[in-house]
Amino acid sequence: MTSSVKCAILTVSDRCSRGETEDKSGPAIRNLLIKSSGSSNSSVFTVVKEDCVPDEANIIEDKLREWCKPDSIVNVVLTTGGTGFAPRDVTPEATLRVVDKTCPAITTAMTEASLRVTPLAMLSRSVSGIKNSTLIVNLPGSVKGATECLQVVLPCLPHASDLLA
Ligand code: MTE
Repeated sequence: MTSSVKCAILTVSDRCSRGETEDKSGPAIRNLLIKSSGSSNSSVFTVVKEDCVPDEANIIEDKLREWCKPDSIVNVVLTTGGTGFAPRDVTPEATLRVVDKTCPAITTAMTEASLRVTPLAMLSRSVSGIKNSTLIVNLPGSVKGATECLQVVLPCLPHASDLLA
């Protein structure tokens, strides 16, 4: 069992990347990870990288490739934002350019749980997948959506990290 799941958080937002809006979702994800440490099979979640990029597919792709190199220490990359229907929402497309394998059941689990909370969950096009030894999971951009979805996937992250190590 992995004692420490090393996480990276990538906020994808034009306005946050320009400093026009405070990034609240990245810190909310970090806080939930820290709060959950020790509660899921005695695993500890640590945040080893955090960044904020605009809704530009090439920039998102470059950052994901950098964090998911073969020798990366990052077990899980959590992106937040850019999964919806707006013209500039391209996080799923950038993620699909990077991953070797998709993990549709992770996305299904988030969608199923989210639909019990709001029908607006249908508006997220999130994907999940594996690049080298790192799992990438797209979360919605709002604090509410990101934390609701993260709570769903958290219990599987330690074992997923073990399997990829
Ligand atoms: N999922 C959950 N669990 N809770 C939410 O509040 N919001 C939805 C959806 N998924 C939501 C959710 C909304 S309103 C949108 S527009 C989409 O996520 C996409 O959000 P994004 O473009 O910020 O990634």
